[in-house]
Amino acid sequence: MKLLVIIILQISFNFVKCYPYRLYEHINDRYRFFSTATVYKYVAPVVRFPESNCEVLQIWMVVRHGTRFPSNNIIANISELHNYLSINKMTSQLKNEEVDKLNLWTFKLKDEHAEKIIEQGYNDMTFLGRNIRNLYKDIFKDNFNSQDFKVIVSPETRCKESAIMFLNEAFQKVIDENELEKMDLFDARFNLVNRVKTMVTDFETNFINGPEIHKVIENVARILGLDNLLDFNIVKAMHDACRYQKAKDINFDSPWCAVFTDDDLKVLEYYYDLKYYYSHGYGNMNNVQESMAIIQDLINNFDNKDQNKSGPKGVFYFGHTANVFSVIVGLGYAKDTIHLTDTNFASMKDRKWRTSYLDPFSSNIRAVLYKCGNDIKVTFFINDAPMYVEQYDCTLCSWDSIKQLLDSQYDQLIQIDK
Ligand SMILES: *[C@@H]1O[C@H](CO)[C@@H](O)[C@H](O)[C@H]1NC(C)=O
Ligand SMILES: *[C@@H]1O[C@H](CO)[C@@H](O)[C@H](O)[C@H]1NC(C)=O
Repeated sequence: MKLLVIIILQISFNFVKCYPYRLYEHINDRYRFFSTATVYKYVAPVVRFPESNCEVLQIWMVVRHGTRFPSNNIIANISELHNYLSINKMTSQLKNEEVDKLNLWTFKLKDEHAEKIIEQGYNDMTFLGRNIRNLYKDIFKDNFNSQDFKVIVSPETRCKESAIMFLNEAFQKVIDENELEKMDLFDARFNLVNRVKTMVTDFETNFINGPEIHKVIENVARILGLDNLLDFNIVKAMHDACRYQKAKDINFDSPWCAVFTDDDLKVLEYYYDLKYYYSHGYGNMNNVQESMAIIQDLINNFDNKDQNKSGPKGVFYFGHTANVFSVIVGLGYAKDTIHLTDTNFASMKDRKWRTSYLDPFSSNIRAVLYKCGNDIKVTFFINDAPMYVEQYDCTLCSWDSIKQLLDSQYDQLIQIDK
């Protein structure tokens, strides 16, 4: 069984390689990579990749909802930050105006706002919908109908609203919510029951208690001019105040961002990378195994188009972080040769597993099936950047060879299962 696991690791590692990050817009001020609360436009490429001239047979896409308010737990913890606002200008290392801004800081979110989609979320979805319409005009020239377009949406309001905004823009028509199919709670492809994974690993606990986080906590105390160190949960709430404000209003920095250095923000980003690596990523083989249902759905849809010349032109699934990570690990994307742990923050500086890039708000994976002459080909895109398939040195790749790779991974997982 162990041997099988090792074989899978090698195959998927060779499968797809991350696109080099240098293609992305460089932000010349503060560090703004905030794991799953990152702004989409900070990680989507500025360069538009030319699409091939091939005929598009099908688009298959998994989308995370647009920008939303934080969860009720995070709202509760941010609300507590009012207790840390008597900042002494003499001992603090903040500029006077930064202290003034912090002292004026107010936070009005309540439980009822928790996880609601916000205006920026509508903007995200409108942007994605317009983009896809412009890229694949032939696909969207027909009216929306359930024959040609298969849309399945998580029952959460933010996902339904995301789907509607996206489709309205893609079809230039108001789509009725009742036309959309709802994800079944027990549909293995979407794994909604097991979507939120709260298990805390030793890696996470040890990292929180380790030297990197300790230094962040010391720095925050020094910058705020405090005599005592704060609890990690309070520092985390300050980070949440910073990142959720940025997500809500791209042109505005929360005054709480000023209590972190860019290096501290990188440590906190790693904290989340580590957490998701084990909850949803390659740190736990169950995650890879669970992803096979959604990958099999992709294979079935493309095979049906390829072999039977039937099936929809577009398949769109609107869900959550877990759904996007599921496709990522099922494809073997952003897979490092070394596991992320609590002790290798420094040596994993250039890691592929960067959740800010993988799963910002409105993250999405799109697979496009093309007919190029007599050949059937496929390109995968993550957040609008094409994935490079290392094994075959291509971005526009033969569907047969990609399928072989995916099938072989799938077969081996089935064997483990037995
Ligand atoms: C909020 O703070 C409490 C302790 O004050 C902590 O147990 C909890 O994990 C925090 N929640 C989040 C989402 O950070
Ligand atoms: C092709 O169509 C047949 C008959 O409807 C179906 O049984 C088969 O599963 C389809 N093949 C694929 C690859 O979907």
